[in-house]
Amino acid sequence: MHGQRGDAPEGLFLTFEGPDGAGKSTQARLLRERLQACGREVLLVREPGGTPIGEKMRELLLDPRYTEMTVVCEVFLYSAARTQLVVEQIRPALLRGVVVISDRYSDSTLVYQGLAGGEDLEVIRKINLWATGGLVPRRTFLLDLEAEKGLLRVRRAKRGIRSAGEDRIEQKELVFHRRVRRGFLELAVREQERICVISADTDASSVHARVWEMVIPLLPVDNCQL
Ligand code: TYD
Repeated sequence: MHGQRGDAPEGLFLTFEGPDGAGKSTQARLLRERLQACGREVLLVREPGGTPIGEKMRELLLDPRYTEMTVVCEVFLYSAARTQLVVEQIRPALLRGVVVISDRYSDSTLVYQGLAGGEDLEVIRKINLWATGGLVPRRTFLLDLEAEKGLLRVRRAKRGIRSAGEDRIEQKELVFHRRVRRGFLELAVREQERICVISADTDASSVHARVWEMVIPLLPVDNCQL
């Protein structure tokens, strides 16, 4: 079956992962601009969301009022949003030869709900394989940052924005966010070929330079100017 490794038939599937505040969205945007400058068509999506159904689920998942939401419920909602995103957006784009960049994907569920949230990792893995039809990114960039620094960045970014309080996940305690960081690093050790760990404790352009170094070998030679 085409697309099991995220590169069917000519498209390229890349994801950014990492703790809150690591700068994934900035890096995803910088990478999109760079690829577009090389003449590649790019689709940038974010999780949870990216489809009408997914955006509804995002509202449910991040609403700070729903303190009673169980971790199992989170697993299903994140995975349900993901299946819509894969079917409606990611697979069709890959089939057209587009580079797809996703700001978070299945690894976030494995880490936030599994390794940090305490639910069964193998069950989550199976649910995600089912939800995505087995679509795995060709390369995942794990932006690594201490939990304290990440949360500080999130708070700073939101300061001054009216009604931009913390969402339900950000409100979790620091110990949880430390487990998230450790969980991502653990996944990276298990899947060294796919997951590249990049320190996010530096300026955005240095992080981008590291990401770009890793992307170049994945592009057809005639497709990018160094
Ligand atoms: P968002 O505001 O998009 O944060 P970020 O910019 O850090 O991605 O909110 C997404 C939140 O949802 C974030 O705290 C991580 C969490 N999350 C999970 O817990 N499990 C998942 O599977 C995904 C995709 C996200």
